[in-house]
Order: sequence, then C-alpha cells, then structure tokens
Amino acid sequence: MARPEKHVLICAHSRDADDPKGSCTARGSTPLIQAFSKEFSERGLWGKIKFNTTSCMGSCEHGPIMLVYPEGVMYGKVQLSDVNRIIDEHLVGGEPVEALKVPKDVWD
Ligand code: FES
Repeated sequence: MARPEKHVLICAHSRDADDPKGSCTARGSTPLIQAFSKEFSERGLWGKIKFNTTSCMGSCEHGPIMLVYPEGVMYGKVQLSDVNRIIDEHLVGGEPVEALKVPKDVWD
C-alpha cells in the first residue's frame, strides 16, 4: 500500500445520553463521516488520503472532532457545511482552515 499524503481521523465515539461529557456522535459526527466518505468517493481521494474513525480523542466538548496528519491539525465543532471547505482548502489545497481549528489551549 502506498503511503497516503494525509491521514484524516474523525471521532465516532458515543456515550450514554445522560453522560455529562456528551460525545462526538451526539454532536453530529455520523453524518459528517458519511459526507466525507461520499466526497472522497466522488473526488477519487481514497488513494491519496486515508480516512478512519476513532474513539474519543479527549476534546469532547469541541466535538465533532477531526484530526489531520501529517500536520497534526485538530478541527472542532465541524459541521456538514464545513466538509467541502476542509477538503478544498486543506486536504487538497494544503492550507489548514484556521477558522475551524480548536482553540489554541486545546491543541494547535
Ligand atoms: S467523544 Fe469525540 S473527542 Fe471525546
């Protein structure tokens, strides 16, 4: 397998509805994962960019959380309306989307 240019990780962790931490699934990660998968297929990105779901990455309150390597950029509160922007500007264009990064005290 060829080494991917980037690796995208999206949290798909869930917790009980009454858990005060909540989860990325409760905050909308499932439709987000589906939207990225669809765009990856339509744009033929699977060979260049690896995409996986993960368990909790520890920043639940900023979820849905998404992490992009090799840059180590963490995005938070990612919405469906952000999918094309992240793909166009960062995953394809190479420039992280500053406005969608988690606050600096979480992880820059
Ligand atoms: S549940 Fe996604 S970061 Fe914790």
